[in-house]
Amino acid sequence: MSDTSGTGKVVVNRAMSLDGFIAGPGHAMGWIPEHLTAADVPEVMAATGAMLVGRGTYEVARGMGQKDYDGGPQFILTHRPPDEPDPSVTFLTCGLEEAVATARRAAGGANLEVLGADVAAQCLKAGLVDEILVYVLPVILGDGVRFAPPGLGRIDLEPYSSTSSGNVTTLRFRVPKPAQRSS
Ligand SMILES: NC(=O)c1ccc[n+]([C@@H]2O[C@H](COP(=O)([O-])OP(=O)(O)OC[C@H]3O[C@@H](n4cnc5c(N)ncnc54)[C@H](OP(=O)(O)O)[C@@H]3O)[C@@H](O)[C@H]2O)c1
Repeated sequence: MSDTSGTGKVVVNRAMSLDGFIAGPGHAMGWIPEHLTAADVPEVMAATGAMLVGRGTYEVARGMGQKDYDGGPQFILTHRPPDEPDPSVTFLTCGLEEAVATARRAAGGANLEVLGADVAAQCLKAGLVDEILVYVLPVILGDGVRFAPPGLGRIDLEPYSSTSSGNVTTLRFRVPKPAQRSS
């Protein structure tokens, strides 16, 4: 049984092709809603109190007009906030740890979801992530944005849930803290 309660965890959450891409060439994302929409994961959404999102992901989602997933307040990590304000999100320019702490406070005891290849990889490297949740979709994309950029290195994970529903296989892993990692 999946742990779907929002208990203040930091969760890297993404849909992924079978060959390990989270976006296709040119940041193509249309392959995801063909198999998975927010309506398929109400329990995950309900367990989520806030989202920490990389600027790259924010720009792609904005371009798509994506509004159906409500994971609470969104914090966008960037070195340079845009000139044009966006009242629907909060831009953060602080360090990574402070950004995670700020977004966690906003989550109010529910989970914090981390979105974006780059930002999620930095959080993983820094030991700030408790869990990875991956929706594996039945498609091979061949190219695009990988699960993580090069340089993340090896992290051994603890699998604790694997379920499938319709076309989607959902995998959950606990992420050991750096001091507990074997390499
Ligand atoms: N399949 C899925 O479920 C899923 C989920 C999420 C995202 N995606 C896809 O992943 C792609 C985006 O990934 P991405 O690699 O571009 O990464 P990203 O993590 O979304 O964004 C990277 C950007 O975040 C900012 N940033 C990163 N680290 C920072 C730090 N420590 N301090 C301040 N700002 C920081 C920088 O923006 P500035 O240059 O503005 O400073 C950087 O260029 C998109 O195609 C998106 O659609 C897919």
